[in-house]
Amino acid sequence: MNPARASVGHYPAERVAQSISWREVATGGERFSILFRSAGNLSQRLKIDGGTPAFPDGPPAWPVADASILSSVNDALTSGQWGLYEGALLTQTRAALQQMWRLEHALLCCSGTVAVELALRGCGVKAGDEVILAAYDFPGNFRAIEAIGARPVLVDVLPNRWTMDPAQVSIALSASTSANISAVLVSHLHGEIADINSIAAIARDAGVKVVEDLCQAPGAMLGGRMLGTFGDVVSLSFGGSKPLSAGRGGALLCNDQGILQRAKIFAHRGNDAFPFSQIQAALLLPQLANLENANRRRLAAARKMIAALAALTQLSGLEEADVSGGLLPSFYKLPIRVGEDAPFSRTDFLAVIQAEGVALAEGFRGFVKRSNRRCRRVGDLGHARAAAAATMVLHHPVLLCEDRQIERLIETLGRAEKYLIS
Ligand SMILES: Cc1ncc(COP(=O)(O)O)c(C=O)c1O
Repeated sequence: MNPARASVGHYPAERVAQSISWREVATGGERFSILFRSAGNLSQRLKIDGGTPAFPDGPPAWPVADASILSSVNDALTSGQWGLYEGALLTQTRAALQQMWRLEHALLCCSGTVAVELALRGCGVKAGDEVILAAYDFPGNFRAIEAIGARPVLVDVLPNRWTMDPAQVSIALSASTSANISAVLVSHLHGEIADINSIAAIARDAGVKVVEDLCQAPGAMLGGRMLGTFGDVVSLSFGGSKPLSAGRGGALLCNDQGILQRAKIFAHRGNDAFPFSQIQAALLLPQLANLENANRRRLAAARKMIAALAALTQLSGLEEADVSGGLLPSFYKLPIRVGEDAPFSRTDFLAVIQAEGVALAEGFRGFVKRSNRRCRRVGDLGHARAAAAATMVLHHPVLLCEDRQIERLIETLGRAEKYLIS
């Protein structure tokens, strides 16, 4: 049968035939196989190419109020607990966090951004100090350092990665210019677990504190130990988009009474200046109980994505080694990079894939372009520059979807790549 006369999916044969470019027609012997491939693609044309989007309803909603959250909030409403500034729900939340992280102290606050600042203040960072920060990180972390009157010292991330390079931390701390450095702020980002063992050891030797920013990785584990317990203090976010969500909110956890006290003194000004409320606690508590289970489910989906990305030619992501071997990552965002030599730009790829209803967006812009007035640099920061230029991040809710949604997503990424290459 002449393939050009066949109907493919719901596309009539005429449209199949029209889709064959003159180049394909001209390839003679290869013609039929090309025609079939072209016809196969046609049945699932991308939105940008006149087709229907893979996810017509857009990305899955987040946060989702399941029965346990509804019941917890209902209890808080009917008991009147929601109106208290301080009460059982806040006490339970602090206790649950302390128990999960096996850390002695918990301070709840209004956001992860504030939790990072309070953690730095708790570590004794003061105006005129310097804080080591990866040159690819959440913008608010740069500002949290500045808010104290301290100055970021930018170090590079690992090659092709998103987290701080311990060797660069070592260089920063052993340089003659290190006298004012009083802390290292290290984020576990995009499902990648920073080399926190090395960073904490280097910082400890130099007598500087380590703040672990776990806003993107709540519940992640390294060697069976909760991330956030390797440094001196850990900051968490309960923002609306986060895997653990109270709409807004944050916390810091630590063992050191001094860190807690300094953070509290700053936060409590005759009143709690950055409060977390009882109703937020009611939202959060049921999610804490389910966090490890949800992280394991997200990981299973992420591993499928990672394996599929490895088979694509122009896109790359985390490596299998980053998510196996006793690690339990926690995915707030799953990173995908556009290859340096890709024949399309990140902007083009995002336009195609976002039209499909996929929540993929640019990663952080990083701090490489920040002025020298605002920060100090260690080395050329080339890997952070590359990360800022090439990173896209997939929002986590899809990772809790059924397998067929993940498969559709993988297939859509592949089609988008193919479309942009051809
Ligand atoms: C690494 C990191 N730190 C801190 C924050 C701040 O958290 P929040 O939005 O709760 O202020 C975020 C938020 O996305 C983040 O990604």
